[in-house]
Amino acid sequence: MLARENRGWDSPPPMNSPTEKQTVGIFTGGGIAPGLNAVLSTAARELKANGHRAIGIPDGWKGMLDVSPDAIDLSGMSRRELHDLLSAGGTTLRSSRTKIKPDQFSKVADTAKAYGLTGIIAIGGDDTLGQARQLHEAGVIQALGVPKTIDNDVVGTDRTFGFESACDRAANMIRDMRTDAESMSRVAVVEVMGRSAGWITLHGGEAGGADITLIPEFPIDEQTLMDRINEVYHEKGANGRPARSAVIAISEGYFGEDKNDKDAFGHGKMRGAAARLADMIKKQTGLGTQEQVIGYQARNGAPKAHDAVFASRLGAHAGLLACHGIYGRMVALRDGKITDVPLAEVDGGRFVTEDLYDKETMGMRLVPKNIREQIQRTRDNLDDASKG
Ligand code: F6P
Repeated sequence: MLARENRGWDSPPPMNSPTEKQTVGIFTGGGIAPGLNAVLSTAARELKANGHRAIGIPDGWKGMLDVSPDAIDLSGMSRRELHDLLSAGGTTLRSSRTKIKPDQFSKVADTAKAYGLTGIIAIGGDDTLGQARQLHEAGVIQALGVPKTIDNDVVGTDRTFGFESACDRAANMIRDMRTDAESMSRVAVVEVMGRSAGWITLHGGEAGGADITLIPEFPIDEQTLMDRINEVYHEKGANGRPARSAVIAISEGYFGEDKNDKDAFGHGKMRGAAARLADMIKKQTGLGTQEQVIGYQARNGAPKAHDAVFASRLGAHAGLLACHGIYGRMVALRDGKITDVPLAEVDGGRFVTEDLYDKETMGMRLVPKNIREQIQRTRDNLDDASKG
C-alpha cells in the first residue's frame, strides 16, 4: 500500500471506533437483480436505527466520480418508506457498469469527502465488488460488499440474491414453451441469461422440465447432441405414440461471447445462442424448430419471497458491519448462514461443477456422483449401530 501522503488523495482512516458516527454511501452496480432495493433498504434501516447516516449514491461506481443532485438521504426516509422499497424490483438508485481507472481514484476520494462518507456499501457482482476491493486495498475508500447477480457466480458466497427469482421466471417460460412445441411438433430452444455460468439454465431447466439443458461449463459434442435430440423427439409414450417435440434450455454463453461488443470491463455481449442452435438442428436433423430468448425478463420484476428475505438479511448484516466501522468484508451465505468474508476473496467467477451436471443425460445431476459410497456408509453405520 502506498504511503498516505504519496497517494494523491486524502483517504479516511482504516478503521473507525464502534461509537464513531458513520456516514455510509450505498450504491448498486452492474446488471439489476431482484432484491437490490431490499438490500439497500435494510442496510439503511440498520444504520439509521443505530444513529448513523446512509446516503444512496446514484448510478453505481459512476456516482462516486462526482457529487450528484440525485443522491438520496436514505436515513431521512421513514421506516414505512424504507419497508415499501423492500419488495420493489430493479434499483431505486439506478445502476451502471462503470470501471474506475487508477487515474480516477482521487476523484472517488474527493466525492467521498464531499459527501462526508466514512465508508461505502457496494452492492454488485464480481466487477463491482472487485472494484470495491481494489479501492479499499488502495486506501481510497473503506468498502463493504454485498454480492448480487442473477447469474449466481460470485466467489465466496454459496448463493447470490436474485438467482432464485430468475430461475423461477426461466422455469416458467421453459415450461410454457412445451405447449407450443408439442402442439406444433417442433424442437423449442430457450435461451437463458447467466453469461459463462450455467446456474440459471441448470436450475430453470430442471424446474421447467427441459428435455436437454446445455451450459457453457460442459459443451457437448455436436453429433452426440443431435442424436440425443432425435432420441427425445421420437421417444414413445405409454401408448406407443411418439413425443414429436423436445424442449432445450441453453445458456446465452454456450457458444462464447461477442468479441466485437464489449462492456466497460471487457466482457463481450452474449446473445444468439438459441438462434445458432436452432439453425444447427434444422440443418442436421431436418426437424422444425422455434426459439425463445428469456433475456432481461429473467431479472425484471419484484423479488420472489425467498430473495426478498435473503436480500434483506444480507443488507441488514452489511448495515450492522458499517455501524461498527468494520469494512473490507463481503457479506455472504455460507453453509446456510449469513456471515461475512474478506472482500479480498472476490476473485473470478463460480461455475457449475461435474457434481451438479450430467453430460450423459445433458441435465442436472440430482444425486452426487459418489452416492453409492455414501449410501453404503450409511448402511454400514446402521448395521454397526444395530449390532452394538
Ligand atoms: O450479469 C447479469 C446479466 O444479467 C447477465 O446474465 C447478462 O448477460 C448481462 O447481465 C446483461 O447485461 P447488460 O445487457 O445489462 O449489460
